[in-house]
Amino acid sequence: MGHLSEEIINKANILLEIYPNKRSALIPLCHLAQGQDGYLTPEAIVEIADLVGVTPAEVRGTASFYDMFHLEPVGKHVVAMCTNIACMLRGADELLEHAQESLDVGIGGTTQDGQFTLEEAECLAGCNNAPCVQVNHRFFGPLDNEGFDRLVEDLRSGKLKDEVPEHGVLNRVDRNYGLKATPDQVQAERDVMESAKKERLAKKSEAN
Ligand code: FES
Repeated sequence: MGHLSEEIINKANILLEIYPNKRSALIPLCHLAQGQDGYLTPEAIVEIADLVGVTPAEVRGTASFYDMFHLEPVGKHVVAMCTNIACMLRGADELLEHAQESLDVGIGGTTQDGQFTLEEAECLAGCNNAPCVQVNHRFFGPLDNEGFDRLVEDLRSGKLKDEVPEHGVLNRVDRNYGLKATPDQVQAERDVMESAKKERLAKKSEAN
């Protein structure tokens, strides 16, 4: 039996059918594997390589280029703290220092309970909310020390579980199955959209 579960292999096979060239499915397959294990295990890398027809080194090389993929185990929550210019000017360095103390980990480290991995990040494109932090790619900010501690507490207690999925869970990969919709389903969706549009226009002209 392979490392990737039957469910993941089934999803992978559906994704592979979507792309004219199998290797184009490499990144979605990495997401699927990371969803299973929380990171890309060496075994998963070999299986992905086999599925898309490249070498394991090519999978590793591609995955290591993107910071959303991890080749080592990480915590349930990956906390990326930006220290680029806008965030730095608003106290990001001090906040990062505080985060290290309060979580009791260094940069790149994972807390003993496996809940948090702390990363220092380049600009996260959330400069308007500097200093800003991403947790599993969800934005939070601007944050001060107290705000950071509150965020950690809320994540630990599960208060934010609907807002912040566990690391490795990316809904978009699953949503891509929508591409398998039948022509009838597509037509039905178009009809609904068309009638909603007509309704909107009718209301607008009534209002005028
Ligand atoms: S500089 Fe921190 S998000 Fe842009």
